[in-house]
Amino acid sequence: MEQYVMKGGRPLCGEVVIGGAKNASLGVLAAAVMTDGECLIENMPDVRDTNVMLQAIEGIGGVVERIDEHTVKISGRSICRENTVVDGEYIRKIRASYYLLGALLGKYKRAIVALPGGCDIGSRPIDQHIKGFTALGAKVDIGHGMITAVAENLHGAHIYMDVVSVGATINVMMAAALADGNTIIENAAKEPHIVDVANFLNSMGANIKGAGTDVIRIRGVEQFHDSEYAIIPDQIEAGTFMAAAAATGGDITVKNVIPKHLEAISAKLAEMGCTIHEYDDSVRVDARNRRLTSTQIKTLPYPGFPTDMQPQMAITLALAEGTSVITESIFENRFKYVDELTRMGAKIQVEGNTAIITGVEKYTGADIVAPDLRAGAALVIAGLAAEGYTTVDSIQYIQRGYERFEEKLQALGANISLVDSDRSLQKFKLQVV
Ligand code: UD1
Repeated sequence: MEQYVMKGGRPLCGEVVIGGAKNASLGVLAAAVMTDGECLIENMPDVRDTNVMLQAIEGIGGVVERIDEHTVKISGRSICRENTVVDGEYIRKIRASYYLLGALLGKYKRAIVALPGGCDIGSRPIDQHIKGFTALGAKVDIGHGMITAVAENLHGAHIYMDVVSVGATINVMMAAALADGNTIIENAAKEPHIVDVANFLNSMGANIKGAGTDVIRIRGVEQFHDSEYAIIPDQIEAGTFMAAAAATGGDITVKNVIPKHLEAISAKLAEMGCTIHEYDDSVRVDARNRRLTSTQIKTLPYPGFPTDMQPQMAITLALAEGTSVITESIFENRFKYVDELTRMGAKIQVEGNTAIITGVEKYTGADIVAPDLRAGAALVIAGLAAEGYTTVDSIQYIQRGYERFEEKLQALGANISLVDSDRSLQKFKLQVV
């Protein structure tokens, strides 16, 4: 079984180029099947979740042509209404498979998709998706592990989301884009990838206004056409490397980013004592030769602090001077990494949705397990900040959302390797003393 092994204690320094946003790519790829034309999509991250989405598109008869690692051509021309069933062991592993519901319902007025899986970070209901589809005129049923959404016709509607949901906003936006008439989504999520999916839909001929604000207005159109589109940079991959600079006392420039998307992260790191330099399309985090200080973080929908950065900040704060408090207000089960981090010497007390963190001087290496995608990446950074050797197991979670994570870290000076046997693990330990 693959795992990461690392010897920590070295500040990570240098430049790292950030890839396309995983979460945006999942929405964009699903939306691409909504045209009978061809979509050329660039800056697609080559990570497991996107590859599963491509497999799902092929599974329903879509044409997927890999131009290169980060470019793909997709056509939904050969998908027929009877074939709009998305199922399979693999599809249950990614939560964003539900984007095919909105996309297929919009185009074919019928979608049957396996109930979403994904990271176990909370109960993750889908009532807002269902509420939106129903308002557009679909009949939605759940049974035998599948969601079925069928409509004779979709019509515009005025929809007020009871909770701010990224997934529900994207899903309803996709279906409404090919519905008859006008739709208004109120209390919409404002995350960068909502804007990216809306921009992509507009590039195919949709008429969507207001994405990025909490009211999105959609005028339904009859059909979409060809498009060429480049996915935005990944806010969370960038933030993860920024946290890596902070936690290891290093100096990292994240390149090919949109600094505005990183403002909440930059501001917190600055509060903790990092020096932040913002450029047009890069951000530098310098944390050399200092001990960071404690702060408070509450996760919130964008433009608030992203829940997907909560574990990476926690492992950084657990090394900072003083007591920090993190409140997780989006998902209720997002502190599962705390037990692992405690084994490395962290002092964290979790009470409900709050973690009280008492900073320690250092971590010590340990054999730990990644509980989910972002927490897994955070634990790798903890290992790189720790004294001695750390192994991280269950790295398939990390590979869902980080492309060549270990290679990018190595280029920043990390002693890390991906190993798949005891022998290669021992070899690493002999080589890196
Ligand atoms: C997306 C991201 C995920 C990120 C999350 C929050 C993708 C593929 N995933 O997940 O990485 O952590 O946004 O930024 O883009 N909720 C309901 N009913 C619903 C839908 C959601 O109550 O119908 C609740 C959820 O339980 C959660 C909150 O709303 O408490 C936000 O969830 P949501 O924004 O929908 O997250 P995802 O789209 O699943």
